[in-house]
Amino acid sequence: MDLTFLGHAGFLIESEKGNFLIDPFITGNPVCKIKPQDLPKIDYIFVTHTHGDHLGDAVEISKKHKSELVVMNEFALYLGQKGIKAHGINFGSFDFPFGKARFVQASHSSSLTDGNHIVYTGNPFGVVLSLEKTIYHAGDTGLISDFFLLKNYNIDYALMPCGGNYTMDVEDFLIASNMVGAKKYIPMHYNTFGLVDQTKYMDKLKKDNIIIMNPSDKIKL
Ligand code: NI
Ligand code: MN
Repeated sequence: MDLTFLGHAGFLIESEKGNFLIDPFITGNPVCKIKPQDLPKIDYIFVTHTHGDHLGDAVEISKKHKSELVVMNEFALYLGQKGIKAHGINFGSFDFPFGKARFVQASHSSSLTDGNHIVYTGNPFGVVLSLEKTIYHAGDTGLISDFFLLKNYNIDYALMPCGGNYTMDVEDFLIASNMVGAKKYIPMHYNTFGLVDQTKYMDKLKKDNIIIMNPSDKIKL
């Protein structure tokens, strides 16, 4: 199976069990060189929360590809009011045709702007996908003791934010990497724009169990 970094917190997973997007912020993403029309047929889209840098192109792509859009329940209700179908979840798990997805705590917020209003869209989440390998996408989160619980899931690849300001920074990322129990860690949500610039700290991430992906990089898992 292949993992492609779209830049920021966006990933494409191409697996025998289907093609997945997580947080597909493509249009307007200053570091994403991949265009929506370059994507393969997408079966599932997971949106960890509805900030623009995560919701991104999710709704448009799901309409075009007839992908299953998996979001927090309150956002599914919001979309339903607009005539858009989505699979609403909450913390816990669900057996999808491809396997189990677990929805785990992320310490963050989730909202969007609708006209002059800020709409709250339920809790943000992290997701653990059981595919050929087990992949954890943390969404946006600060450092939380819940990371210790993830040891139970034998995670192969943990995609975690390290840009600071909105999420953990590099130092917290390193602390988290000693809690989650994953085989490999992949940093995300940094150096996309000035507020999340971690350039001066990046040397700290040069470790055997950390894979630094650049936007558009595709690796075999
Ligand atoms: Ni966010
Ligand atoms: Mn974000």
